[in-house]
Amino acid sequence: MSLLIVFILTAVISSYAATPKQCFDNTFHFGVGSSALQTEGAWNLSGKGESIWDRYSHDNQDLVFDHTNADVATDSYHKYKDDIRNIKKLGVTFYRFSIAWSRILPTGLIDEINEDGIKHYHAVIDELLKEGIKPMVTMYHWDLPQSLQELGGWTNPIIADYFVDYARVLLQNFGGKVNTWVTFNEPYSFCHDGYGGLYAPGTRSSGRHDYLCGHNVLRAHGMAFRMYEKEFSHLKASVSITLNMSWLEPATTSVDDQAAAERARQFSFGWFGHPILSKDGDYPPAMREAINRNSRIQGFNHSRLPTFTPEEVAMIKKSYHFVGLNHYTTFLVRLILAGICKVSKRSGIIDTKPSYENDVGAILRQSPTWPKTNSSWLKVVPWGFRKALNWIKNTYNNPRLFITENGVSYEAGLQDVKRVNYIEAYLRSVHDAIYKDGCNVFGYTYWSLMDNYEWMRGYSERFGLFEVDYKSSNLTRSARLSAAFYSTVARTKCIPDNFNYNFNNDTNN
Ligand code: NOJ
Repeated sequence: MSLLIVFILTAVISSYAATPKQCFDNTFHFGVGSSALQTEGAWNLSGKGESIWDRYSHDNQDLVFDHTNADVATDSYHKYKDDIRNIKKLGVTFYRFSIAWSRILPTGLIDEINEDGIKHYHAVIDELLKEGIKPMVTMYHWDLPQSLQELGGWTNPIIADYFVDYARVLLQNFGGKVNTWVTFNEPYSFCHDGYGGLYAPGTRSSGRHDYLCGHNVLRAHGMAFRMYEKEFSHLKASVSITLNMSWLEPATTSVDDQAAAERARQFSFGWFGHPILSKDGDYPPAMREAINRNSRIQGFNHSRLPTFTPEEVAMIKKSYHFVGLNHYTTFLVRLILAGICKVSKRSGIIDTKPSYENDVGAILRQSPTWPKTNSSWLKVVPWGFRKALNWIKNTYNNPRLFITENGVSYEAGLQDVKRVNYIEAYLRSVHDAIYKDGCNVFGYTYWSLMDNYEWMRGYSERFGLFEVDYKSSNLTRSARLSAAFYSTVARTKCIPDNFNYNFNNDTNN
C-alpha cells in the first residue's frame, strides 16, 4: 500500500475515533436510489416510447453541459443484475428506482400496453426480491411520454386522469410485489425548472406554466392516492410523494429576511407540502396572497395560481402514508424589494413581469465559506438538514418522514474521502434530528447507487457510491470508498467511529 493511502486511511480513521458512536434503531431503513431516465438507457428499445427528456436532450444538445443524452446512460436496462449485485453487496434493505411511464405505455395512454416493458420491470423486481432487497418504486421521475407533452403535458388538467390510469396499470401489475410507492419525485423541480426554467420540456414560463403544472400534479397525486385506497388497499402498501427541500436560512437577523426565508419555504416545500400535509389543506396562505396580489397588479383578471374546488382540497389533504424528502443543501435568503417590483438596471423601468421569483420576493445565495462540491448549487451544510427536518416537524405536526434522497457529487475516483465525510456529517445531522429533536424519520436513501445521467449536467456530475467508467465498453462499475463506508452504516445501523475498508470490489461474483 502506498504511503499516501496509509496517510489518508489514518487521517480518516482518527477523525472517526474522536466522535461518540451514533446508532439508529434496528427498524430504521437504509437504501440507495436511482431513476429510470438517468440509468436505464435503451431509450427506444423493446417498444419504449419517447419521453420528454429523450426529445429535449436530442433537440437541445447545446443546453446539456457535456452535450450528451441518456440514450445509453448506465445501460441498466441490460445490466440491472449487475446493479442489484452491487446493491446486495452494500447490505442495504431497499432500492428506490423509478418506472418509465413510456416504457409501460409508449403513448402515455392505456390503450397500448408494452408487454416487454411490463416484463422488464417484473424481472428487475423479481431479482431484487430474490436478493432480499425491497423495491421502493417511484411512478414518475420526470420522464413524461412525449405524446402527452404534445397536449400541454402537466399544464393540461386531463393529465391527472391519464396519470391515474398509468398508476392503476402499475398497481395491477406490480402491486403484489411492491409495497412502497412514490407517486411523484420532486414536483417542485419538474414543474418549476421544467416549465419555468431549463429542464424538459423547457417551456420557460415562470410564474404561469409552473403553477399550472403544480396544480395538476397535486390533483393527479390526490386522485391516484384515493384510487389506491378504493381499489388496492387490500395490498396494504404505503403510498407517498417525494418533495424536495433545501434548507432556507435567513441571510441576516432582520425581520425582513426572516419573513422572506419563511415565505420562500412556503413557496418551495409548502407549495406541495401544505395542500397534502397541513391541517387545512390547499396552497399556503403566503403563496396565495402574494400571487393573487401580484396577478392583480399585473393586470390579470384571475390569479396566476389556480384554485382548487373544496372537493379537491379535501381529496388532496392527507393523501399520504408517509412523506418522502429529498435534501442536499442550504441557501441564505434575503428579501428583494417590494416583492414583485424590480427596477431594470438598463431602462430604469419597473419590471413587474410575472415570475415565480418575483412572487417569492426573495433572493437565494450560498456562503462562500461553505465547502464546494462538483455541483454548483450543492454546498456542504450538514446543519441545514437538521433544521429542515425540524421545520417540517413543527410546520406539519411531525409527519412520518422517509429520506428518499441525500447525496453529493465529486470528481471521478475511488478514494472519495470527501463523499464519506459528507455522508457521515449529514447522517449525524439526521441522527440529532431524530434522537435529540424527536423528528419522525424512519429511513434514509443515498443518492445514488452509481454515477448516472445528471439531467442538464449530463455525465459530468457523479453522485455514485459506485463509479461508472463511461469509457469502458461494458460501463464498468467500481465501488468507491464511500460504498464501503455506507455499507458499514447500513449493516450496523451505526455511524462508525472507524470502518473496515476492505470492500469486495469484484463485480463478477
Ligand atoms: C434530485 C433528483 O431527484 C435526482 O434525479 C437528481 O439526480 C438529484 N437530485 C441530484 O441532483
